Amino acid sequence: MKILAIETSCDDTCAAVLDNDRILSNIISSQVDLHQKWGGVVPDIAKRAHMERIEPVISEALKRAKVKIEDIDVIGVSLGPGLAIALGIGVNKAKELAIKYNKKLVAVNHIEGHIWANLLKNKTGKPKREIKFPALALTVSGGHTKLILIKKIGEYEVIGETLDDAAGEALDKAAKMMGLGYPGGPIIERLAKSGDINFLDLPRPLMNKKILDYSFSGLKTSFYYKIKDWPKDKIYKNLANLSATFQNAVFDTLLKKFSLAIDKYKPKTLLASGGVLANLEIRKKLRKLAKDKQLTIWMPFKKELNTDNAAMIGIVTYQKALRGEFVEDVEKLDRDPRMKI
Ligand code: KG4
Ligand code: ZN
Repeated sequence: MKILAIETSCDDTCAAVLDNDRILSNIISSQVDLHQKWGGVVPDIAKRAHMERIEPVISEALKRAKVKIEDIDVIGVSLGPGLAIALGIGVNKAKELAIKYNKKLVAVNHIEGHIWANLLKNKTGKPKREIKFPALALTVSGGHTKLILIKKIGEYEVIGETLDDAAGEALDKAAKMMGLGYPGGPIIERLAKSGDINFLDLPRPLMNKKILDYSFSGLKTSFYYKIKDWPKDKIYKNLANLSATFQNAVFDTLLKKFSLAIDKYKPKTLLASGGVLANLEIRKKLRKLAKDKQLTIWMPFKKELNTDNAAMIGIVTYQKALRGEFVEDVEKLDRDPRMKI
């Protein structure tokens, strides 16, 4: 089955072509340069950039995959959650192509995409991965921090989530407070390598409570008050230490709740994905946790499959197409910015 997938839920314009679960092409046009000076995503700028880029990105995906649009069997698009005006560009383009070329259309939940990025394979069908159910997924990005129990593909229960900021969002905001660029996660990762994780005493809200929900807003506020009166050069001199302490506090909480959820729900396979999982430190910690619990953990096999991309939308399109879950009335399909999993 040849799939064309489209993703425009935030600040990346993405298109991918898959042959079943194999990636033939995966094009990501990042808008980081456009949003950087504002320290976060500006919706109007994102919308305009998506509009300008969506066609060339789709053409490039088809060209690299050496597939003609006429030979595509099904089109998949990210319907939500995400930024409404950004989602709209991808959804409208997918509808337009489905109608023009008479193709079946599948609507995909962006979070479901992040989860199944773990099953994506390269052109030669690697890596091969087996998932035993129930599985437990941790998705950590700029917009979401969720613990999801998966009874089977397509059947999900959110057992924990952030009550305020997402983990990636907290990292981005801390980076902004330190005068660093956007997105903050990768910059903090780089700086944290040579820093002291005990440099500041930072709180870990909700960490020692039995509930599986997360909270990062108190951590962010505490960090703000600790450094707010510091002169710029003091912050500058301590960037590594500040980054290491903040990152470690976020990761401690992520791991603690994941561990609690494993003990409570006894999953047979663990999955972890989302932008923050591009971070090598958390990947290492998660592998150790899985080993201690004697479980297999899968994380996307390539760095760019953690952050937003269309291949992850493509694999869910494949799964839903196998189940016959196509959009019935293409004309009426609308973006769903608050879509729940
Ligand atoms: O999945 P994603 O691309 O978009 C959303 O769905 O939100 O995630 C973006 C988030 C940002 O907050 C970014 O700072 C974070 O992922 N991120 C990282 C790293 N790379 C991206 N966080 C920590 N370490 C990284 N290497
Ligand atoms: Zn995402």
